[in-house]
Amino acid sequence: ADRMPSHVAVIMDGNGRWAEERGLPRREGHRAGAAAAREMVYGALEIGLRHLTLYTFSTENWKRDPEEITTILKGIQREVDEETIRDLDVRQRWSGRPDELPEDLVQTLLSRERRTRTRSGLTLTLCINYGGRDEITRAAAALAQAAREGEVDPHLLGEDDFARHLPCPEMPDVDLLWRTGSEQRTSNFLPWHTAYAELYFTPGYWPDMDRRDLWQAITEYSRRQRRRGGVGAPLTSTENHQPSPHARPDPRH
Ligand code: IPE
Ligand code: IPE
Ligand code: MG
Repeated sequence: ADRMPSHVAVIMDGNGRWAEERGLPRREGHRAGAAAAREMVYGALEIGLRHLTLYTFSTENWKRDPEEITTILKGIQREVDEETIRDLDVRQRWSGRPDELPEDLVQTLLSRERRTRTRSGLTLTLCINYGGRDEITRAAAALAQAAREGEVDPHLLGEDDFARHLPCPEMPDVDLLWRTGSEQRTSNFLPWHTAYAELYFTPGYWPDMDRRDLWQAITEYSRRQRRRGGVGAPLTSTENHQPSPHARPDPRH
């Protein structure tokens, strides 16, 4: 338990390729991807994860065909309204820009946030119309405003002050960033929060994932040695430079 990550963030990639390989329209990939996302919520609750953050729609995804965008956004609306998730001990949150999104989706997301705010089992954050640079730019704008009003002194500004001005200041640092679908990039996802995250890239497409893949990702994380710039536990003579599953837990973890 002491090697469990607290916060897992996932770039759920490969919906389109999953569908294309089956000769199906891309929307079928997004439909199957939504089912996989629901499955991960159950997996996260079962293993006792505190925070699960899912990259659902990026500020760059507006470049896609309008029909695909509509399919994705309607799918999100359906999932957020989903009865089975609604009754679980899940606090639902949303990170992203409200502009450009359909008004009814924004209202649904805000209402789910309000209704679930006292739940404590799992915090599920959906990043919808989310962009990392947008998030940082908005924090910079909020700080500039605070400085102009005399609330912060630019000379005394620290990292914690910056983090407090992010649009979702409660979001904790990411321990494990998992991306499916073979690409090894972060695509503008949570640049502030993943600064020291462990990275995990897997080849399978997102719709083929289930809770066992989440647990596998967590198992892989539990074997990593996080040094955060310090010096780790010394290697024994039988250990290579591979992190050992029996390595001493990092006391700062
Ligand atoms: C991820 O799957 C879902 C979204 C970006 C909304 P993709 O739709 O990017 O699937 P690929 O990468 O084209 O296979
Ligand atoms: C990242 O996937 C965005 C989401 C999973 C929502 P993309 O498929 O949009 O990323 P790129 O285009 O491969 O960078
Ligand atoms: Mg993709």
